[in-house]
Amino acid sequence: MQVTIFGTGYVGLVSGTCLAEVGHRVVCVDVDQAKIDGLERGVVPIYEPGLEPMVRANHAAGRLSFTTDAAGAVAGAEVIFIAVGTPPDDDGSADVRHVLEAARTIGRHLQAPAIVASKSTVPVGTADRVREAIAAELSARGVGIEFDVVSNPEFLKEGAAVEDCMRPDRIVIGSASEASIASLRRLYAPFNRNHDRIVSMDVRSAELTKYAANAMLAAKISFMNEIAGIAEKVGADVEQVRKGIGSDPRIGWHFIYPGAGYGGSCFPKDVKALARTAVQHGHEPLLLHAVEAVNERQKGHLFELMLRHYGGIDALRGKTVALWGLAFKPDTDDMREASSRRLLQQLWEAGARVRAFDPEAVREARRLFGERDDLVLCDSDHAALQGADALAVVTEWKQFRSPDFAALRRTLGDAAIFDGRNLYDPAEVEAAGIAYWGIGRGRSIRE
Ligand code: UDX
Repeated sequence: MQVTIFGTGYVGLVSGTCLAEVGHRVVCVDVDQAKIDGLERGVVPIYEPGLEPMVRANHAAGRLSFTTDAAGAVAGAEVIFIAVGTPPDDDGSADVRHVLEAARTIGRHLQAPAIVASKSTVPVGTADRVREAIAAELSARGVGIEFDVVSNPEFLKEGAAVEDCMRPDRIVIGSASEASIASLRRLYAPFNRNHDRIVSMDVRSAELTKYAANAMLAAKISFMNEIAGIAEKVGADVEQVRKGIGSDPRIGWHFIYPGAGYGGSCFPKDVKALARTAVQHGHEPLLLHAVEAVNERQKGHLFELMLRHYGGIDALRGKTVALWGLAFKPDTDDMREASSRRLLQQLWEAGARVRAFDPEAVREARRLFGERDDLVLCDSDHAALQGADALAVVTEWKQFRSPDFAALRRTLGDAAIFDGRNLYDPAEVEAAGIAYWGIGRGRSIRE
């Protein structure tokens, strides 16, 4: 099928590439000329495993192209996806300005009947606004062309986006039109073999489904972080508790890892936006507010542990902390809402210096923070330790999982590890003569 995608961010680029990979002809449109030029040369602006070779192969095969020419891209498309960004507004609600701008552009250039599918995470009711925006442009042109607006939210995870897109666990399609659902079934048929993954529903339910999925996952994390806080106080180990509850299929093993808090481009923004939608419609979102509040507190928790270890903020002045991990999670260079950013800020305010390493996000950190005396960006985990007094880990990259604790004991001036992702066995660390501080691991608390 002939597909056009507005927006070459995470969702647009990955979806477009995967649709091309299964044989559709895909045109990706973006207003950013430099980005489009780069993509035409095979330069992928984000780090996502497997994406770059796939972009290049499909581009070379003529199935995937990039353009700023919206008119040409809209004209021949059977399905037009809107996958532009929805950044948070000042009040936390999702800003749909770019979505509506894309809708108007579609309305200005539509030549033949098409399905407009919204992939961006948008507040409930946005599909109606998209429909109105397109209809207004068509009537201004004095033409009557049939179109349908469908909600088709994307559930891909950064770092596994290509895999998620090629092997989706479900494909949600929100539309009142049987014909639109049938067309999207045809589009997604290559991803829908063996068993039917398509869940069709009304438009508003599809829009809410995306928020519900992310808010539920964020709630699981905040719940475990709450339990971790209690475990710390009562002298229990949340890691044992996690193992004790995960085998119940109603709870499950996924997303019950306590840690330094959730970050990224989705959870913080979507929980806020859903709470905002609830308030706007007269529902007080008590649980969503709590999910957010717990996460805010959690992002500062590793620093709290440092204060306890050092006996107050003054003792941190002049210390050098090695920081392993900058990205909000492994396998990405994304630092949006990353817990590392809060910790860096707190350490700098306390007068400490940081030597940081991340396998992918060092360049992003340099872009965010520039040159400063209290930050050294290192090119290996080993280099970050040189001259450091303590080690803090905030991203669970595989390569941080089994360090040589005896060597760490010799290197770290104060022989202390602050493990923001519970990667290590406290007994093993302590046996090496290093003080261990983890999340919710009451057994090692020294009051
Ligand atoms: C998320 C959703 O998983 C995805 O379905 C949706 O489409 C977009 O939002 P993503 O933001 O890429 O994806 O990251 P995810 O892997 O979900 O992790 C989010 C954050 O939660 C990370 O900071 C991670 O460290 C944290 N996390 C995750 C925990 O603290 N504990 C867990 O048990 C799981």
